[in-house]
Amino acid sequence: MLCYLFTLLMGEVALDKILDYIKNGVDGKKPLSEAQEKAVMSESKHIRVLAGAGAGKTETLTRRILYLLLYKNVPPEEIVAFTFTEKAAQSMKSRIYMQITQIMGEEYAAKIGKMYVGTIHSYALRLLQDHFGYGNYDVLDDKQEMAFVMRRGYEIGVNSLDGRNYPDKCKKFVDAVNVVYDELIPRDKLREKNPEFYKVLEKYEQMLDDYHRLTFGRLIYLAVNKIKKRPEKLPKITHLIVDEYQDINHAQEELIKLIGKDASIMIVGERRQTI
Ligand SMILES: Nc1ncnc2c1ncn2[C@@H]1O[C@H](COP(=O)(O)OP(=O)(O)O)[C@@H](O)[C@H]1O
Ligand SMILES: [Mg+2]
Repeated sequence: MLCYLFTLLMGEVALDKILDYIKNGVDGKKPLSEAQEKAVMSESKHIRVLAGAGAGKTETLTRRILYLLLYKNVPPEEIVAFTFTEKAAQSMKSRIYMQITQIMGEEYAAKIGKMYVGTIHSYALRLLQDHFGYGNYDVLDDKQEMAFVMRRGYEIGVNSLDGRNYPDKCKKFVDAVNVVYDELIPRDKLREKNPEFYKVLEKYEQMLDDYHRLTFGRLIYLAVNKIKKRPEKLPKITHLIVDEYQDINHAQEELIKLIGKDASIMIVGERRQTI
């Protein structure tokens, strides 16, 4: 009785009740499948979920986050979840927020603001801005990156590279730069194999710095390099969760490994179509 009163006063919800909500949904009408439940409550350091579209992968991730926050009492700031788009992040965040509000109340739900749910690009940008001196940089999207190269390409020698005409040279240059970033191609090899391109790339990066600009590819590339050199700058992360893993490139995979070095990592992806 005293215990019950205490629970009421503290506004706490019993753990078995919480587990029931997580397993069956707040309305009790969305029971997890056996495979989903296994993933949600797994104690493994590396968890990989592969299944087809609509199989319930994102739902599994969402319930895992609820499980970690409410049942395992993991501090929200130690959880990082990557989605493929900002829209997907918004939808995941609001689903988590709504469910926590229903289970624990609004005051408790407000605490989860410290949890990161978003794209890997936004996370890399935040790291660069907060810890590596890129606070006054802006990010060019793909279109702006192309426009930037078209406008200033002459100055850095894009015209001396391969291509049918200037726009084609710019397009090929941007594509090649992003291969260097996405595939983390070692610079010494690049200098050796393709010195002309290498020279233009160096000037391009200098120009991006002069104008305080990042691109999507460069963001990830720089985050990987900076963290490799100064891993102690990373905030403490105990749980890293990645949705749509099948769409991730080599540099992003490397960043995930670095960020999740000391964390439990759960990745969720679409099973490759076999024809
Ligand atoms: N255990 C479950 N019980 C009820 N509905 C579920 C369950 N798992 C997933 N769903 C629902 O099925 C739909 C597809 O799930 P989702 O997680 O988006 O699939 P995926 O990410 O694998 O494409 C969503 O509407 C989701 O809410
Ligand atoms: Mg999904």
